[in-house]
Amino acid sequence: MSVHTKIKRITVPEIMARKGNTPIVSLTAYHAHTARYIDPYVDFLLVGDSLGMVMYGMENTLGVTIDMMIAHGAAVVRGTERALVVVDMPFGSYEESPEIAFRNACRIIKETGCTAVKLEGGARMGPTIKYLSERGIPVMAHIGLTPQSTNVMGGFKTQGRVEEDWAEIENDALVISESGAFAVVLEGMAEPLAAKISGQISIPTIGIGASAACDGQILVLEDMLGLSPKPPKFVKEFATLGAAIAGAAEAYADEVRGRAFPAKEHTYAMKKVD
Ligand code: KIV
Repeated sequence: MSVHTKIKRITVPEIMARKGNTPIVSLTAYHAHTARYIDPYVDFLLVGDSLGMVMYGMENTLGVTIDMMIAHGAAVVRGTERALVVVDMPFGSYEESPEIAFRNACRIIKETGCTAVKLEGGARMGPTIKYLSERGIPVMAHIGLTPQSTNVMGGFKTQGRVEEDWAEIENDALVISESGAFAVVLEGMAEPLAAKISGQISIPTIGIGASAACDGQILVLEDMLGLSPKPPKFVKEFATLGAAIAGAAEAYADEVRGRAFPAKEHTYAMKKVD
């Protein structure tokens, strides 16, 4: 008789309790099998809308739809059992009103089985974060460099390089924390500002290109695996899978072509018999 012990998923309160404690480890994931490999080592997995670029070759995240997020979110939930799974709300699915955000977040949670959603934006998203979290939807916020605002920001630019910009970003962090977000991603943020915010707010900060001064770190999986053609400068590659894939494809092609001659002979021989 085999006994299968079901592993309990990490919960939102467990992530919150890590504030100022052991750093929170996170990666993005978009598909079941890779998620299964990394599940034992991370605290949460983010099904990020970066999948638009990584999986679909889009130029930015603006074309990502709720249906895409749901398909990939469900795959990651199916492939994992331990990590908390957070799914990104794509551009256009939450900005209009808290009610619309709630409806779309409910769809994402019901149809994927994920635990929480993430949305971009600072103080302006306060009322939406409050509305969702008061109605049973855990929200991870995302401030600093927010890729869904790329057209307004004029590209992907590190935020908080000059001290004059800090007050607004600090206020963003404070408002979302007081509105009920359970954690916040700080993306592309100058180290002194990320350190200051991490010390000021009561929820965990998760950095990406925002220094080690945060309560946790997240990386795009394909970037750290060496699978991205142009990874951001701050990314350390922990593997070189791009080169490994090209090498395997080359070895396979060589093997198949090495057998091509006898296979052609066989066809020819059959034709001759005909
Ligand atoms: O979409 C994404 O992958 C993200 C991370 C970069 C934090 O939002």
